[in-house]
Amino acid sequence: MGEVLVTGATGGIGGPLVEALVKAGRRVVAAGRGPAGSTGGVRTVEMDLARPGTLAAALGEVAELDALIHCAGISPIAAVADAGPETWERTFAVNVASAAELIRLTLPALRRSRGHVILVNASPGMRAVPRWSAFVGSKAALRELADSLRQEEAANGVRVTTVYPAGTATERLRKTRAGLGRPHEPEACIQPETLASMITWVLAAPPDSYACELAVLPTPR
Ligand SMILES: NC(=O)c1ccc[n+]([C@@H]2O[C@H](COP(=O)([O-])OP(=O)(O)OC[C@H]3O[C@@H](n4cnc5c(N)ncnc54)[C@H](OP(=O)(O)O)[C@@H]3O)[C@@H](O)[C@H]2O)c1
Repeated sequence: MGEVLVTGATGGIGGPLVEALVKAGRRVVAAGRGPAGSTGGVRTVEMDLARPGTLAAALGEVAELDALIHCAGISPIAAVADAGPETWERTFAVNVASAAELIRLTLPALRRSRGHVILVNASPGMRAVPRWSAFVGSKAALRELADSLRQEEAANGVRVTTVYPAGTATERLRKTRAGLGRPHEPEACIQPETLASMITWVLAAPPDSYACELAVLPTPR
């Protein structure tokens, strides 16, 4: 099996995802802001997704790759009246423009392997959320990126999946819900390890078919 490039590998979802992939026998390239290095089947590449123009140099040449999973994301809370250009630029850079750039850079390798792009989006059906427009807007753009790419790359055998997870019990979700003034019950959320195993399952589908969209909800209690 070839390598899987994972962004957001240090995150509440990305960490368990890297563990699940390694357990499934995958070689993982973890894109993060920490220093580059290698441990236990994981090679770390240092990159700042807020600066998509720097990613080509950070990534270097990619000879072989089975999959790219974009799990990095930021979710600032600010009303349109308060969010300055830095908020919009950073949110769109990390959440969508960096994904587009990493896809562009890895497509030759993904075409060779008839590989898979997985984009971690937002909760199923999320739209028009007050004080969250930069985040929700960036995820709408991420969905469009996925849907266009799926059609563009069909002839090359590249699979494109969008994952729509509802609230997943990470520190990020706790902070977000606090910021939005919403109640938070982590045990009623998707557990990050569960989501990680579902994404790993998407990647492990037999070659004839795949899940192009995966909406994940916590089981009602
Ligand atoms: N948790 C949920 O309820 C939930 C629900 C639906 C969708 N999602 C989506 O799932 C993804 C992961 O969420 P999470 O809860 O795991 O969030 P998280 O714990 O905050 O993880 C975010 C990841 O993105 C990375 N990142 C942020 N800015 C970066 C930058 N400039 N350059 C490189 N990496 C950067 C972080 O790296 P650092 O460690 O360096 O900060 C971290 O690894 C996000 O796309 C989020 O929108 C989450």
